Amino acid sequence: MEDRIITGEETGDDASVELSLRPSFLNQYIGQNKVKENLSIFIQAAKMRNEPLDHVLLYGPPGLGKTTLAAIIANEMDVQFRSTSGPAIERAGDLAAILSSLEPGDVLFIDEIHRLPHSVEEVLYPAMEDFFLDIVIGTGPSARSVRIDLPPFTLVGATTRAGLLSAPLRDRFGVLSRLEFYEAKDLCAIIERTAEIFDTTITKEAAAEVARRARGTPRIANRLFKRIRDISQVKGEREISLPTTDTALHMLQVDDAGLDHIDHKLLKGIIEGFSGGPVGLDTIAATIGEESQTIEDVYEPYLLQVGFIQRTPRGRLVTEKAYAHFGLKVNDKE
Ligand SMILES: Nc1ncnc2c1ncn2[C@@H]1O[C@H](COP(=O)(O)OP(=O)(O)O)[C@@H](O)[C@H]1O
Ligand SMILES: [Mg+2]
Repeated sequence: MEDRIITGEETGDDASVELSLRPSFLNQYIGQNKVKENLSIFIQAAKMRNEPLDHVLLYGPPGLGKTTLAAIIANEMDVQFRSTSGPAIERAGDLAAILSSLEPGDVLFIDEIHRLPHSVEEVLYPAMEDFFLDIVIGTGPSARSVRIDLPPFTLVGATTRAGLLSAPLRDRFGVLSRLEFYEAKDLCAIIERTAEIFDTTITKEAAAEVARRARGTPRIANRLFKRIRDISQVKGEREISLPTTDTALHMLQVDDAGLDHIDHKLLKGIIEGFSGGPVGLDTIAATIGEESQTIEDVYEPYLLQVGFIQRTPRGRLVTEKAYAHFGLKVNDKE
């Protein structure tokens, strides 16, 4: 994949910075009010009953705060946070080892849970439902199954799309929370919080501009902020100004609507190659040299959200709004 400043996906240099920016408790977690309200009630109730929280599935596009929220749940429940990911658990034994090392009430976070191997998933079902493991020891005629009791725990799973999960796994989550793209005012608050943590000032207008062009995604807002701050600092500004923000975003090839060259390639590819569509996802993927799954999980959700493309039974359709964004009319099609 090309290097892309506005991908919601995590890139190498995000990790250390994100750690310092990650809110630790629900009241510091900005936006997503519906999800927060629900979780807050479930957390309070579980604490009153002195029980672990129900298993929670968090889903939504990358960079919206799923990992952050998972860690917050552990903090709010005042338990340990153990973190792994679907692709990291290759065999049933790996999962058994993790599960049997948990303390009562712990949160086990499995990122990209849709990528758990099937054999591992089956071990997870009884673990989630009744807190035990059924492990087969040995092979052939001497094989026998052993039951291992587990401490009660909370599984928090994260995935870019709940639809990628098998039905039996999805059904075992008591709480399913979908994270939405953030409103500009919430992203503004996140940028102002980030500025404060970095000991920098940003004008209201500049923060609003970053928020407007950050694809509704905190990870992107923070990443853009860092780059803009560099440019502002080199210019010797006391506070990050709107003109500098504009220049910086232009340098970073983020357009007025927050789209970058890959979005342009995607939209223009459909407009120029397929008269605006409808065209199948795989065809688009082949045309622009990206994977279908990446387009679907990372690029497309925001383009759908702002109404630049539509999903139809016959494929993706570029809208009039997108044409207008490029200064084109739909009848330019012919
Ligand atoms: N609601 C929020 N309030 C403040 N910062 C947030 C919020 N959600 C996400 N962030 C910031 O965005 C970054 C990316 O969030 P993360 O939880 O890693 O997203 P995901 O796991 O969904 O890809 C975090 O490091 C955090 O700094
Ligand atoms: Mg994550």
